[in-house]
Amino acid sequence: MKTGLKLIAAAVGLVLVAATLMPGSLRAGDVRSLRGELAIEENNAAPEVHAVREGKPLDRAYRQQPPLIPHKVDRYEIDLKVNQCLRCHDWPNNTRENAPKVSETHYQDRQGNRLDQIAGTRWFCTQCHVPQTDALPLVENRFTPANAAR
Ligand code: HEC
Ligand code: HEC
Repeated sequence: MKTGLKLIAAAVGLVLVAATLMPGSLRAGDVRSLRGELAIEENNAAPEVHAVREGKPLDRAYRQQPPLIPHKVDRYEIDLKVNQCLRCHDWPNNTRENAPKVSETHYQDRQGNRLDQIAGTRWFCTQCHVPQTDALPLVENRFTPANAAR
């Protein structure tokens, strides 16, 4: 009796394995890696470095989007102690530098307490804000904001 059950279990297992290998499911070659058709041990070419599009800010794609940065940032250090973005974007420096002030949300901790300095959750600016550039999307993307889809 026990061996009979084991045989049935093995047969069910085989059917499941066969089903996943059937045509119709995802096949190798359907998925194309962004690094190209290269063997694991080969190096791909260095990706193109896109120049920052300075000047006019690009439109936001949706209301809550962190605005893109319309200037270069490679010289500005951000680490545990230093944040050079604040030299221009923190109040009241922004008035002197004629730069947009960080949003009020950036002075609130995650409990909603209002602070005098930038909240720790907003310290690493480039976690959310990236310089704008004219790069093409890496993969097809049909995203539209909710109000455009209405
Ligand atoms: C020397 C001053 C200065 C520094 C330092 C600086 N910015 Fe700016 N930033 C500006 C000015 C001025 C603008 C307004 C647009 C312009 O004139 O380029 C701006 C625009 C922006 C915007 C667009 C805001 C909007 O509402 O569209 C973002 C986001 C931004 N900066 C983020 C950063 C981040 C992140 C850093 C640090 C990596 C940084 N900035 C460092 C001066 C500065
Ligand atoms: C966790 C993500 C996040 C981080 C980190 C962050 N921001 Fe933002 N930022 C946003 C979002 C989202 C908005 C737009 C919505 C809003 O106003 O909160 C924004 C808005 C802004 C604006 C435009 C304000 C306005 O009134 O138009 C500036 C300038 C800015 N951020 C600068 C910075 C700087 C400088 C830092 C680092 C000190 C930083 N941000 C860190 C998400 C972030």
